[in-house]
Amino acid sequence: MDELLQIKEEALSKIDSCTTLKDLNDLRVFYLGKKGPMQAAMKSMKNMPKDQRATFGQVSNKVKQDITKAIEDKKVQLEEEAIINKIKNETIDIALPSQQLPVGTIHPLTMVKEQLEDLFVGMGYTVAEGPEVETDHFNFELMNIPKDHPARDMQDTFYIDENLLMRTHTSPVQAHVLLAAKGEGPIKVICPGKTYRRDDDDATHSHQFSQCEGLVIGKNITMADLTGTLELFAKKMFGEKREIRLRPSYFPFTEPSVEVDISCFNCDGKGCAMCKGTGWIEVLGAGMVNPRVLEMCGFDSEEYQGFAFGIGLERVAMLKYGIDNIRDFYSDDLRFLNQFARKD
Ligand code: PHE
Repeated sequence: MDELLQIKEEALSKIDSCTTLKDLNDLRVFYLGKKGPMQAAMKSMKNMPKDQRATFGQVSNKVKQDITKAIEDKKVQLEEEAIINKIKNETIDIALPSQQLPVGTIHPLTMVKEQLEDLFVGMGYTVAEGPEVETDHFNFELMNIPKDHPARDMQDTFYIDENLLMRTHTSPVQAHVLLAAKGEGPIKVICPGKTYRRDDDDATHSHQFSQCEGLVIGKNITMADLTGTLELFAKKMFGEKREIRLRPSYFPFTEPSVEVDISCFNCDGKGCAMCKGTGWIEVLGAGMVNPRVLEMCGFDSEEYQGFAFGIGLERVAMLKYGIDNIRDFYSDDLRFLNQFARKD
């Protein structure tokens, strides 16, 4: 009997000071298992007189129950502690400064595109779009560049198959717009978008670049309208003091064709490194829409005339923001992009 009580006391004290669920389980196996001290004490039962045996049985059962209960209580306590510890270790300090996510800004090409859209929409133009994968028919034929035309060499083309290609300029959108108008003017559109040429990439050339086409069709449209429009473009994009200069040029889809220079905004026309000492910077190609283009696209060229221009967006952005490498536009480098965050 004393032995039983001793076992119980020892067990309860060990359970009480136990700190892990594993140790507790070991205690359970030891005290309540078949090879434990309880079992050993029970063995002596068979040598006892009958009347003592009953009491001994009762006491030993009680001891077993007490130990079992102590183990169960301890188990609940240890499990609760484990949960509390886990929660403590997982707390989030909401006052800690968070990780800074890099945020970009509007891309300079998008900026220039939006400035052009604002400028021309303000003058009553609408914005049109056309496909970047274009047919030979639209990119060349309707632009008065037949198959054997030497001007096809000027525009090294990415062909997809014999008839499909990546558009080499935004001029085919002119044909889409003209055909949709079914011979009825007036038309005033700009068409910004991506263009592709098989150029070797370097600081000023990229196989993918962007243009903004302009097309105006109406009755009695003259070269003076074109000049006035481009003058306004020059002043709004590069400053009120800018002037423009037209030089004769050649494009199959315009006649006459001009190359348009803007007086250098860096030196006010005196001559500097930016304008290579000439005082003028070339920015775009333009001209009066070739009557053949009008006729091919369903317009009566006796009744309607018009002008068209094509602006290189990279060129404008490079001049305007002093960017000296065209590849920076496509580099997705936030250090480059973020320089333009507050320029406009
Ligand atoms: N499409 C010409 C080019 O890509 C630019 C241009 C457009 C010239 C419209 C005249 C009229 O070089």
